[in-house]
Amino acid sequence: MTDKPNSIDDVQTMLGAQDYVCDRALGTVVFLALTLGRPLFLEGEAGVGKTEIAKALAAGLGRRLIRLQCYEGLDAASAVYEWNFAEQMIAIRTAEAMGFEGAGADRTALKDELFTQDYLIERPLLQAMRPQPGGAPVLLIDELDRTDEPFEAFLLEALSDFQVTIPELGTIHAPEPPIVIVTSNRTREVHDALKRRCLYHWVDYPGFVREIDILHARAPEAAAALSQEVVAFVQKLRTEDLFKKPGVAETIDWAKCLLALDVVSLSPEVISDTLGAILKYQDDIQKLQGSEAKRILDEARASLAPT
Ligand SMILES: Nc1ncnc2c1ncn2[C@@H]1O[C@H](COP(=O)(O)OP(=O)(O)OP(=O)(O)O)[C@@H](O)[C@H]1O
Ligand SMILES: [Mg+2]
Repeated sequence: MTDKPNSIDDVQTMLGAQDYVCDRALGTVVFLALTLGRPLFLEGEAGVGKTEIAKALAAGLGRRLIRLQCYEGLDAASAVYEWNFAEQMIAIRTAEAMGFEGAGADRTALKDELFTQDYLIERPLLQAMRPQPGGAPVLLIDELDRTDEPFEAFLLEALSDFQVTIPELGTIHAPEPPIVIVTSNRTREVHDALKRRCLYHWVDYPGFVREIDILHARAPEAAAALSQEVVAFVQKLRTEDLFKKPGVAETIDWAKCLLALDVVSLSPEVISDTLGAILKYQDDIQKLQGSEAKRILDEARASLAPT
């Protein structure tokens, strides 16, 4: 376990050591979340590095990362705990085979035995409340906007007191609250009550210099000249009217594709052959066919030219 960072600079250095490029604003909110023990709510477009923050933070702090991936229909059983019915059935059958009476003291004893830790399946929220060797874990509640409101209300309660009550076992309380990161792609607005419990940060697309830094950290084999062209092109592309703008993940993927093809410099042909790495909708890809790719490339090159 590493000590919690003492300053915003420390946070930036710690995340940097995990190849995560963290600007001052993000560093500040992460520092505050750690210092005040508040959950951090991160919103932003797809592929801008929200999930990665939690991974880098856990690795940097030497904590366990526990991830709750949200989806429509996620319920408390899948998020907190379930009883292992299959194992319980086997135990009942075995007891029957061994001459279990099915009534009286035998029955009570069997029932007590079936609802113990041995038959409990711990899901992420319960796992996050258990003491961990390296200290409180990082709990990532990923893509919260995919769940429905009842689950959100349930989560609100779990986040406010960090305890879970299992009727058969009693209340389990986290000895030290986990470090909570909640992310959302904003496909719907998350309720105010939950946001109020958290510190909030909007993760934006990085500017040119920061995206170059990220590419350097994640695809160090890319030469400087190619990286600059790739980033300048993607940055221009984000100003176009597209259905789905490319995230940082796409920039990295694209650079890796170009490297695999031994491309040293962009051309309209290369762009049109590899567009599938940055644009994932046919309408967007079609828009960039023909002269459009050349126009954006020319503009991107112009922005790189020394003034
Ligand atoms: N600031 C950054 N520093 C280093 N790598 C980054 C940064 N931002 C994004 N990345 C890279 O982009 C990839 C995608 O990031 P991530 O999966 O965290 O995005 P996301 O915002 O969670 O997207 P989604 O909403 O689609 O889940 C990461 O694997 C990482 O390689
Ligand atoms: Mg994500």
